[in-house]
Amino acid sequence: MSRKRKETPLSQRAVPDVVRDKARPPLAIVLGSPAEVVHCLRFLGGMEAICYQMDLYQAERLQAELAEQQTTATVITAADLWDLPTVFQTVLYLPARAGERELKIDMVEQAFHILRPYGTLMVWSPYEADPFFANLLKKIFGRVHTPHLGSETVLWCRREGDRPRRRHEVTFQARIASGPSCRFLSRPGVFSYGRFDNGARALVETMTVHPGDRVVDLGCGCGTNGVFAAQQAGATGHIAFVDSNVRAVVLAEINARNNGVADFQTVASSRSEGLSEGSFDVVLANPPYYANYAIARLFLVRSRQLLKPEGRFYLVTKQVQEIADLMMETFENVEAIMHRGYTILSNTPFAS
Ligand SMILES: C[S@@+](CC[C@H](N)C(=O)[O-])C[C@H]1O[C@@H](n2cnc3c(N)ncnc32)[C@H](O)[C@@H]1O
Repeated sequence: MSRKRKETPLSQRAVPDVVRDKARPPLAIVLGSPAEVVHCLRFLGGMEAICYQMDLYQAERLQAELAEQQTTATVITAADLWDLPTVFQTVLYLPARAGERELKIDMVEQAFHILRPYGTLMVWSPYEADPFFANLLKKIFGRVHTPHLGSETVLWCRREGDRPRRRHEVTFQARIASGPSCRFLSRPGVFSYGRFDNGARALVETMTVHPGDRVVDLGCGCGTNGVFAAQQAGATGHIAFVDSNVRAVVLAEINARNNGVADFQTVASSRSEGLSEGSFDVVLANPPYYANYAIARLFLVRSRQLLKPEGRFYLVTKQVQEIADLMMETFENVEAIMHRGYTILSNTPFAS
């Protein structure tokens, strides 16, 4: 197999005929890029479908792609696949190349529970000759079919019988300096599964949060940074946990509650909507750098709008040059400090 072929995205490959042979409505398409999902829907010739996404930003991109390609489907964003409001005859899972292994296990596990009896799960995998999915499907469904399709890998299996719901999650513990130790629940598909990220640690060890501060944990993941900010903001402070990944928002709520955050709100939004502008003292950000810095830019612009005029913005990064340039477009003042191998940028001088 040539290297080029291996890297060709699914959206640019012919959909294998077995997908059409096995697909019966009602159909669910699980994850996949907007281009891949629309490619499959068009191949299936308008079959009624629900497209599951975990992230609002991805869901909005998929809605836009569906509209552009004049293709009809219902897009549902939910923390868990097994929360979809109906059961399906066919589930087609489009795992991401280089995606998180634990998320793949979780999606296959949850897919079992949204199938009707004898319903079919199909996985169109971007990996050729990789036994990972064959072993996984066999473990969860009991039997797996791996038809020989040349260079394509479509695996399918049937739901037979029942099995208990098995949730994949890990709890980890973290503390800042001599502060109290906190326990955080994490689940696959949310940043830094099972551990406190080193960049996040660098950020919270550098921030200044005063008692009574109103803080936004922007792109909160499972909420570690906001929980540590709450230790300093105290009982009169307020923390807003914001993420576009709805599973992350569920976790942030659980972790805020379990770690005794006195006053908080959670917001699932890709544009940090629903927060009152000009009302926050601090924004904390550890942004993602995909989409050509579009998200990092959005984080900066929204932070500026959410902060009070004298509000403090803290961002951790390893992409210093690109982000410093973007920050200078947004804030009058940009300060930098190195900590634990990361750069923390702020619009305010760091406490010495
Ligand atoms: C690098 S992770 C940081 C997570 C956590 N704050 C930490 O420091 O460990 C970036 C987070 O931003 C979220 N995110 C991505 N795009 C977003 C958007 N448009 N709006 C809000 N959050 C977004 C991701 O889901 C992810 O949880």
